[in-house]
Amino acid sequence: MLSRLKDDIGTKKVCLFGTGALFDDCFGQFVLFLGREPDFLCDNAQKKWGKVFHGIKCVSPEELRKMREEVTVIITARKYEDIHKQLRDMGLKDVFVSCYDRRYNSLSAFKRIQDNSLGLGASIFNNTVKGKWTLITGAARGVGRQIAVEMAKLGSNIIAHSRSASHVAGLVDVCSDFGVKVVPVAAELGNPSEVEAMLSELSCLAPQIDIVFNNAAVSPPCPSGFWSMPSGDFVTSYAVNTIAPVLICREIIPQMIQRGFGRVINITSSIQKRPGEMAYACSKAALDKFVFDLAPSLEGTGVMITLADPGWLRTDMGGDIAAHPVESVIPGVLLGALLDGDINGRWFSVQDYAGLSIEDAVLKAKIYYSQG
Ligand SMILES: NC(=O)c1ccc[n+]([C@@H]2O[C@H](COP(=O)([O-])OP(=O)(O)OC[C@H]3O[C@@H](n4cnc5c(N)ncnc54)[C@H](OP(=O)(O)O)[C@@H]3O)[C@@H](O)[C@H]2O)c1
Repeated sequence: MLSRLKDDIGTKKVCLFGTGALFDDCFGQFVLFLGREPDFLCDNAQKKWGKVFHGIKCVSPEELRKMREEVTVIITARKYEDIHKQLRDMGLKDVFVSCYDRRYNSLSAFKRIQDNSLGLGASIFNNTVKGKWTLITGAARGVGRQIAVEMAKLGSNIIAHSRSASHVAGLVDVCSDFGVKVVPVAAELGNPSEVEAMLSELSCLAPQIDIVFNNAAVSPPCPSGFWSMPSGDFVTSYAVNTIAPVLICREIIPQMIQRGFGRVINITSSIQKRPGEMAYACSKAALDKFVFDLAPSLEGTGVMITLADPGWLRTDMGGDIAAHPVESVIPGVLLGALLDGDINGRWFSVQDYAGLSIEDAVLKAKIYYSQG
């Protein structure tokens, strides 16, 4: 990959486009991948023009345009579509996008994207979830509700979990309108025996579970910070956010392996450096560890386990001032269910796909994760 990119660059200058947090976190990796420092940077934010970041000068898009024949540009943003179009409209021919793996701060490749790749997704999309059974925990509201409705639209039968069947009564009607079967189940996930009772109830209610979204979670508020955080916050967070998903996987994945098909999507979080939310953050880190360690053992079974980080959302958990509307999780949060191939153990950053159609999100993920 490195040598091919170097061949493409030849004697041209290299510009990294975008000087946000991701560029900042990964600057050292960019230098290692390129084998040298970029010649200059560029950004759409006027306040950055003429400034120096990591010892490299940032120019304006207009200055970049004047050098278009002699520059290779690498876009550092994960939501690259608009910038890619902007650069191609400016006449730049050599434009690459950066691909990141698992977490925000791990660079995995630079790739060239076709100009007209948006809209091509429909030609490769194959709906494999139609007629399957999908369990969604915490389906009554927030992210879980979005997942349930979209999976029903795609023709999947739904098992909608909540703490009380009354919480999903409206959702059952909405999903049923798409012509699929919908089964409500209730359990307090903080109590392992309720989780086990739900799983044995499910073995009678639904014929088989093909897809699981471990979505339900708690994030105990601790306004006075980590030092006064009650130990119970850790116990509750681990019980609901880690142990319940592990118990669900332990019961359902062996059945999926026997049938040779399964998709398990665990909703995680990129929360970090927030000591006041340590109980929640640690429980999600434990869930990530579980997924990363289990994934290799599923190779070749037809069962794939992944993580999806939805971003900071305006839900009951995220609060009113969160950055993104809850609807923005579609289509990215579904990718672990919709994709085939090299996805086992992947971390999907859901906001990378916000605003795309399901088909184009699948295409983007395939480009991102394909080898070469
Ligand atoms: N919102 C964000 O900014 C954000 C950011 C990163 C990651 N996430 C993750 O995204 C997922 C969904 O979050 P959200 O914002 O949609 O949350 P939400 O709006 O607070 O909804 C939480 C869901 O989880 C269920 N739940 C909570 N505690 C439970 C328990 N003890 N037992 C059983 N079910 C329980 C609730 O069921 P009931 O309806 O029955 O109460 C509810 O449906 C979570 O995994 C969360 O960690 C969210």
